Amino acid sequence: MTTIGFIGAGHIGSQLARLAVAHGHDVVISNSRGPETLAPLIAELGTRARAATPAEAAAAGDIVVVTMPLKAIDTVPAAPLKGKIVVDTNNYYPQRDGRIAELDNESTTTSELLQRHLPESKVVKAFNHIYAAELTTHGQPKGAPNRRALVIAGDDASAKRTIAGLIDDFGFDVVDAGPLAEGWRIQRDTPGYGPRRTAEELRRDLAAAKRYRDMPVKS
Ligand SMILES: NC(=O)c1ccc[n+]([C@@H]2O[C@H](COP(=O)([O-])OP(=O)(O)OC[C@H]3O[C@@H](n4cnc5c(N)ncnc54)[C@H](OP(=O)(O)O)[C@@H]3O)[C@@H](O)[C@H]2O)c1
Repeated sequence: MTTIGFIGAGHIGSQLARLAVAHGHDVVISNSRGPETLAPLIAELGTRARAATPAEAAAAGDIVVVTMPLKAIDTVPAAPLKGKIVVDTNNYYPQRDGRIAELDNESTTTSELLQRHLPESKVVKAFNHIYAAELTTHGQPKGAPNRRALVIAGDDASAKRTIAGLIDDFGFDVVDAGPLAEGWRIQRDTPGYGPRRTAEELRRDLAAAKRYRDMPVKS
């Protein structure tokens, strides 16, 4: 059993919390508006769950999931996350997040931005390309034919093994895209972003992914 902290409790955060509790983990959940606003979710999740501030969730988690609009990642408390595995589900949507020049020119990736903000944490990109609702409906037991796969990326091999194990427990195969810098291969508008894919299909999609600058211009 692990305690999983959540910074963000929206579509993805709440669904991952449901999965975590269903698999026997404790969860400590936070959002921007304060713990009291999370009462309905905590009531649903039961005794394994409690609401907290972001700093408290960061301190309590053995693993901490950052799942919020990308524009807010600079508010993630760094000190309590020192040395910890931080799972990053975030994507870049300029209409929501504003323009971020380094992402527009693709000189970095979303998860590298979080890693830069949390230099002493081990950031693993995960759960960014599956619709929230499917997290609790698409999982299958290990070895099931055509089991859905999810991508991870990260710079720390041990942290990636831990998160791969968690994803497998949650019902999905895992495809390792490599270091955080390769995370662009599963960013918005790439072939693997969104649809249900097996591991083999996802590896093919990662290999076929194009940079935004090399994509045909949409008319
Ligand atoms: N929705 C999907 O299917 C999906 C799938 C894969 C990846 N993603 C990505 O995952 C991230 C989260 O997506 P989502 O759909 O779950 O978003 P969402 O439903 O809008 O939820 C965002 C959560 O972040 C919290 N938050 C915002 N600013 C915060 C701050 N400064 N400190 C702490 N918490 C803060 C919000 O709290 P308040 O409500 O209190 O403001 C809310 O709980 C996004 O980057 C998104 O692109 C989404």
